[in-house]
Amino acid sequence: MSQSVYALNVGREGFDRLALVQKIYGPKSREWLLRSGLRPGMRVLELACGTGAMTRVIADSIVPGGSLVAVDNSEAQLETAKASCAGVDGVEFVRADACATGLPEGSFDLVYFRLLAMHLPDPAGLLRHIRTLLKPGGILVCEEAAIDSTFTDPPYAEQLILHEMAAALASDHGSDFNVARRLGSLINEAGFESLEVSAHMPIYVRGEEKFLEVASFGEALNHWQSAPIEVIREGREICEDLSRAASDERVVYGLSTMRQFAAKRPAAA
Ligand SMILES: C[S@@+](CC[C@H](N)C(=O)[O-])C[C@H]1O[C@@H](n2cnc3c(N)ncnc32)[C@H](O)[C@@H]1O
Repeated sequence: MSQSVYALNVGREGFDRLALVQKIYGPKSREWLLRSGLRPGMRVLELACGTGAMTRVIADSIVPGGSLVAVDNSEAQLETAKASCAGVDGVEFVRADACATGLPEGSFDLVYFRLLAMHLPDPAGLLRHIRTLLKPGGILVCEEAAIDSTFTDPPYAEQLILHEMAAALASDHGSDFNVARRLGSLINEAGFESLEVSAHMPIYVRGEEKFLEVASFGEALNHWQSAPIEVIREGREICEDLSRAASDERVVYGLSTMRQFAAKRPAAA
């Protein structure tokens, strides 16, 4: 399969889930970007900007003198991102495929993406494209979640089934929701150097954050066109069981580990 089909809602319908993603993961994303070299004055590219949660954070970090191109292949996402970044200066929104943006080669100081490679059939192709877009010595910063790392304490068997179903769903969409587990190798193989890595897992006993896994999986079930009806029905029952677990303050809920990567395009290449 050369083209993957995006597995989640876009635009207004996907906004609340991505706002929750930002609430949970956003502070560490910002920290990682700054630690990896995001600075005022840089020319930055954000791929798969979604509804613009990190677009705003990046734009605020590169003033004065910086500029940001925010790319997504969904018009609905871009419209929502533009609205949520109203009043933010120095951002240009572009609709393009992240793997073939058509943007000028060698023109960015830093390229960033979060939760994109997991939706693509060819994450290695994405990384090779990013390498051409960066200036020599330019920085790649990216973050991907390992979807099968979630846990509950006490353990719910339903969650293991969810992991299996999510893997099958991704495979039917031509992608790999656990690409985070091999992204370091892919970055090295794409010709980057000076790889840095980190990871963090958000864990909760209460709050809306506990529902992120169920909300994301429930949404993805709606887009799983090729699955038999019994599979979708089983998926919905799992969502109900895990929602009950998330509502129970005696259940500890561990969300997906976010793996963070930074690397450089070699200066001489
Ligand atoms: C899970 S969302 C993440 C959004 C944002 N990076 C964030 O973390 O808040 C994935 C985004 O990737 C976009 N996307 C999926 N495939 C794409 C592609 N081939 N090129 C550009 N964007 C793509 C989707 O439209 C969606 O906005």
